[in-house]
Amino acid sequence: MSIVLITGGAGFIGSHVASALLARGHEVRVLDSLIEQVHGGSRPARLAPEADFIAGDIRDADTVARALRGVDKVVHLAAEVGVGQSMYAIERYVSVNELGTAVLFQQLIERPVQRVVTASSMSIYGEGLYRRSDGGLAESVERIEARPGAWDPRDADGAALVPVATPEWKRPALASVYALGKYAQERLTLTVCGAYGMEGVALRLFNVYGPGQALSNPYTGVLAIFASRLLNRRPPLVFEDGAQRRDFVHVSDVAEAFAVALEHEKAPGQVFNIGSGEHRTISEVGTLLAQAMGSPLMPEITGKTRSGDIRHCFADISRAERELGFRPRQDFAAGLAELAEWVARQEAVDRADEARRELEARGLVA
Ligand SMILES: NC(=O)c1ccc[n+]([C@@H]2O[C@H](COP(=O)([O-])OP(=O)(O)OC[C@H]3O[C@@H](n4cnc5c(N)ncnc54)[C@H](O)[C@@H]3O)[C@@H](O)[C@H]2O)c1
Repeated sequence: MSIVLITGGAGFIGSHVASALLARGHEVRVLDSLIEQVHGGSRPARLAPEADFIAGDIRDADTVARALRGVDKVVHLAAEVGVGQSMYAIERYVSVNELGTAVLFQQLIERPVQRVVTASSMSIYGEGLYRRSDGGLAESVERIEARPGAWDPRDADGAALVPVATPEWKRPALASVYALGKYAQERLTLTVCGAYGMEGVALRLFNVYGPGQALSNPYTGVLAIFASRLLNRRPPLVFEDGAQRRDFVHVSDVAEAFAVALEHEKAPGQVFNIGSGEHRTISEVGTLLAQAMGSPLMPEITGKTRSGDIRHCFADISRAERELGFRPRQDFAAGLAELAEWVARQEAVDRADEARRELEARGLVA
């Protein structure tokens, strides 16, 4: 069994990864600065008490050096996580996500570990993969203009494109400051680990949901944002027409993927999509969540676009299935019922309007 450091381990995904690793007999240490937007400043109750906790910033070299003492493996999750917010809090996002990862690897050169598994993101793909009407695949699709009646990307001749599951080989298209940072984290992990005899792995997570996601952080986790609205008796706010497709993967399946990626002999040097392998529209999940929470409210379709938003992206998870034996287990309806039950026991400040105003003030919503 190993001693595992989880950076950002007090967060939503981190606390589930901590529990999954403790259940497998690992020792867990967490380094987390407990940022206000996520935690309100205190160690969350859901973080297992057996996890050793160090409060500190990933950008602080001395703290990172202390956190790495005696550690065999690292799960790197510490990050600022709002795509929209990254488009105006640029310095903060580059500092935490890129410089923070650089500080971690600078310290790892002195104190190498066996393996580092980093959380990357589906956001690095930009638009997902599409199929053209002639049957060929289109992997560099971009929306020139997104407007009512013309939300979906089209090929160069204006013909319709059909979204298909996105595999790891699709070229990245970094459409936000957040995506740029996640790609830097992923590449730093593979490059520096490769150069110093460590094993590096990156998991490209799709839309993760489940109990424990910060309900009052309006910048991340569409299901958490919708839940927070519904809890406050307001309809979920849906951008565009709500027909954009995503892959929602339960946090327990993601935690399992990290546990496997830390151990599996085939993982090193690779990137893996981690999703459910299913796709749904945003309107549909808003409606299903409202039903699961017993709310009569329906999603409100705003018809607005956010700068950097993509239309469709959902996961091809065949590499993780084939190489790691990854099998998402959580049924979506059961996952929503569990989320609704957890949400009913929470208090959430609904900051969705505030977040939208921040983006609108900077011309990032049209
Ligand atoms: N939730 C998703 O759908 C999703 C999807 C793709 C990728 N990811 C990635 O997974 C990771 C975990 O995300 P999450 O959803 O659990 O978010 P989260 O905000 O709940 O967790 C991130 C944690 O990092 C900590 N943190 C932030 N800045 C820090 C700093 N400077 N030093 C130390 N700790 C710091 C925060 O306090 C928080 O506990 C992130 O790297 C994120 O980019 C998440």
